[in-house]
Amino acid sequence: TYVIAEPCVDVLDRACVEECPVDCIYEGDRMLYIHPDECVDCGACEPVCPVEAIFYEDDVPAAWGEYTRANVDFFNDLGSPGGASKVGKTGTDDPFIAALPPMGE
Ligand code: F3S
Ligand code: F3S
Repeated sequence: TYVIAEPCVDVLDRACVEECPVDCIYEGDRMLYIHPDECVDCGACEPVCPVEAIFYEDDVPAAWGEYTRANVDFFNDLGSPGGASKVGKTGTDDPFIAALPPMGE
């Protein structure tokens, strides 16, 4: 799977959402999350993110390892809806993300 990391927090550019052929990039409150089971590893999202927040799971910088976990745990309650557009904005975040200080520009 691919993982969205720290540069997305409080930026939420959403260019990635337009590119994903399986609509597996879900919107939290302060960032977006890629569903680890629904992502088909097409990689289309990675180059379009203007802040380079998206990484293949093996390439996530070590300092951002917590984001790999957060992209999984975000879906503990949501399950596998099979499409982010029908879910819309969840208004929630992984607790680690919610506790971060304000980020972005
Ligand atoms: Fe975030 Fe980049 Fe997508 S900022 S919403 S990962 S395009
Ligand atoms: Fe979608 Fe990116 Fe995965 S475009 S299928 S989330 S690699």
